[in-house]
Amino acid sequence: MGKQRILSGIQTTGALHLGNYLGAIRNWVELQKEYDNFLFMADLHAITVPHDPAKLAENTFKVAATYIACGIDPERSTIFVQSHISAHSELAWLLNCITPLNWLERMIQFKEKSIKQGENVSIGLLDYPVLQAADILLYEPDQVPVGEDQKQHLELTRDIATRLNFQYGAEESPILKIPEPLIRAEGARVMSLTDGSRKMSKSDPSEMSRIELLDPPEVIQKKIKRCKTDPIRGLTFDDPERPECNNLLGLYTLLSNQSKESVAAACRDMGWGQFKPLLTEAMIETLRPIQQQYQTLLAEPGHLESVLRQGREQAEVIANQTLAKVKTALGFSIPL
Ligand code: TYM
Repeated sequence: MGKQRILSGIQTTGALHLGNYLGAIRNWVELQKEYDNFLFMADLHAITVPHDPAKLAENTFKVAATYIACGIDPERSTIFVQSHISAHSELAWLLNCITPLNWLERMIQFKEKSIKQGENVSIGLLDYPVLQAADILLYEPDQVPVGEDQKQHLELTRDIATRLNFQYGAEESPILKIPEPLIRAEGARVMSLTDGSRKMSKSDPSEMSRIELLDPPEVIQKKIKRCKTDPIRGLTFDDPERPECNNLLGLYTLLSNQSKESVAAACRDMGWGQFKPLLTEAMIETLRPIQQQYQTLLAEPGHLESVLRQGREQAEVIANQTLAKVKTALGFSIPL
């Protein structure tokens, strides 16, 4: 039996942060040892909110460099750009026509993002999860590794595929494969540094709320020095009254590669003044090699371009096969 397949992606809106790393990319690096990995840059999703055309391609390129700098190996993983493969947009249209509107209107991310945009909210933003379903279903992955915030979008993907199979397929030979979400308990929900009850996000207007993967040491130091804490002495996990404390201890656990038990024991009697430098150091040391590798990759764009070209060739074959299967099932196959 061949390797199982995983697929995932990141929207190319702005710089990636520790939530993207711990909730997604770090797990992909682990998974590429055992799975056949398909990883892409979701640039079509990036235009669902107002964007700057002068920066779109550059951002996509930078996210690709970040994947590789974080340890995604182009020899083991197929890395590609969503907009390079037109099957994504085409399948999204086909899926649109079988997706009930009210399934989309209840998506939490749509509700949150549309409030911020008021009257300018686009159909694209509402349709975001259908494009995401197309991204996933085209590659027939076994698992989709994501952070906790994507759980609802994955459930929707499963619902859309099940509906298409039910309406146009036969029970013994389903058209689309139903994927499983893969959400690790650790790192699945990294919270904002300025409010421990909200997730760390690229779209938060305050840069102080997140650690970006390319933040230099002095910026990390400043952000941790000023991040929100509480006046209680002694640091503990899992206290619902102390969301910031739980988040910062969780970050330290992951970044220093220690167990929760050993961090809990070591920090039980600490104050923030003692803990913050440890956390700062762990962040700087984790990000240092990533930042060095990122600079090397950007200095040789030809290499990155050839990785993306090869990724496109490999991904396109699979995407087109699935698209053809769906078109046939919907009745489009008129021979030319
Ligand atoms: P995006 O760019 O918002 O997030 C990319 C990945 O990072 C995870 N993530 C987090 N994990 C933990 N804590 C956080 N604070 C945090 N913030 C983000 C997300 O869960 C995600 O895994 N819609 C997707 C992009 C996408 C996609 C796909 C993903 C488009 N098509 C198909 C999987 C499969 C997204 O939200 O990206």
